[in-house]
Amino acid sequence: MRLLLIGSGGREHALALKLSQSSKCDALFIAPGNPGTAHCGTNVALDVAGHGDVIAFCKREAIDLVIIGPEAPLVAGLVDDLEAQGIKAFGPSKAAAQLEGSKAFTKELCVEANIPTAAFKRVYDAEAAKAYIRQQGAPIVVKADGLAAGKGVVVAETIKEAEVAVDMMFGGALGKAGAELVIEECLIGEEASFFALVDGTHSLALASAQDHKRVGDGDTGPNTGGMGAYSPAPIIDEAMSARVMREIIQSTVDAMKQRGTPFCGVLFAGLMITKEGPKLIEYNTRFGDPECEVLMPRLESDLVDLILATVEGRLDHITPQWSHDAALTVVMAAKGYPGTPQTGTEIHNVDQAAAMKDVTVYHAGTSTREDGALLSKGGRVLAITARGATIAEAQSRAYEAVKVIEWPGGFYRKDIGWRAIAKTR
Ligand code: AMP
Ligand code: GLY
Repeated sequence: MRLLLIGSGGREHALALKLSQSSKCDALFIAPGNPGTAHCGTNVALDVAGHGDVIAFCKREAIDLVIIGPEAPLVAGLVDDLEAQGIKAFGPSKAAAQLEGSKAFTKELCVEANIPTAAFKRVYDAEAAKAYIRQQGAPIVVKADGLAAGKGVVVAETIKEAEVAVDMMFGGALGKAGAELVIEECLIGEEASFFALVDGTHSLALASAQDHKRVGDGDTGPNTGGMGAYSPAPIIDEAMSARVMREIIQSTVDAMKQRGTPFCGVLFAGLMITKEGPKLIEYNTRFGDPECEVLMPRLESDLVDLILATVEGRLDHITPQWSHDAALTVVMAAKGYPGTPQTGTEIHNVDQAAAMKDVTVYHAGTSTREDGALLSKGGRVLAITARGATIAEAQSRAYEAVKVIEWPGGFYRKDIGWRAIAKTR
């Protein structure tokens, strides 16, 4: 098959590597890709926002299947436009991507389908928001309804902090994403990411992971896209996984189908495991980044088979095989991230690190200079991933590889995996 993968991050490098290893992959293109994906297939410069460009490329190159990594093209309806042209695409329609695109949409669905989630209220002006916040008390969570690149959620410890967040969001700091807010109960427990494939009717559990959103060691400092992750999440044992599938994932799949907007693709549930059980914090409608970088090294099945079963509605006839190994990834970011990252700084010894046993180095925000030197190009630059019999073993391998990389312009967290490792002690 001839495949086109959309995206350019560490997630896409992890997907590209797995796709390129499939016996069904005859050609792989990545748009726009990065220097890492260039080793898995052919990078192509396409204007992904212009769906016409993508469609024209698919026709010219006889693409059989398009796989979409990030959320923005999904929410913009790229899958709908491809399918209208008879091109197979892996990912939800625009209507189904609302599970990620609108927090209010997901909360209403939870009410309708009886899915456990935090109590909430939708608000359209600051006065109503503040009245509800004062009535509920703190801690309380303030969320912009729309996509806000990770900046749309404030977990407020005090009423004052919540009110400042309300003024910031309604003040236009997040643009259209903040036209409506959701104010919700602050859940207490341990967070985990849960991934399932959904074909419109059936759902299939993939695996769990935990990421590290804060920029600093000990979970301090501002939120980022994710500074590291590991899989599996020890808190998601088999019984918990079955419960999440039953109470949260399949209930969502049934409700979306009933509404006439069936969900197809990857459903990524952000969960809080509370004393009462798992509760849905939010949905993403794609693989996580950096979670994908720890899922793919553990997946032993052919990724193209799984994707085809999803697109063709056959998920009830396929069982993915996973390695018993754990995987852990450490994100190396450019100094300045998550503010303004320093770009154009030189990175050395990536190949030496990548050659180490059970280590994979995924590129996220890199570029190559004409002389071949590797440079930083974005905030999150590399995801250094290792496998091991335990999370602790994967952690020590990953950090050994991190130490081989010479990059004065970068930084990383030194404690990825701490929660899981503390548990086993
Ligand atoms: P997001 O940027 O949407 O991934 O959410 C950011 C983070 O906010 C989540 O990963 C949680 O740590 C936290 N969060 C969101 N909603 C709640 C909630 N209702 N209770 C506690 N923490 C929450
Ligand atoms: N790592 C969280 C996300 O991909 O949204």
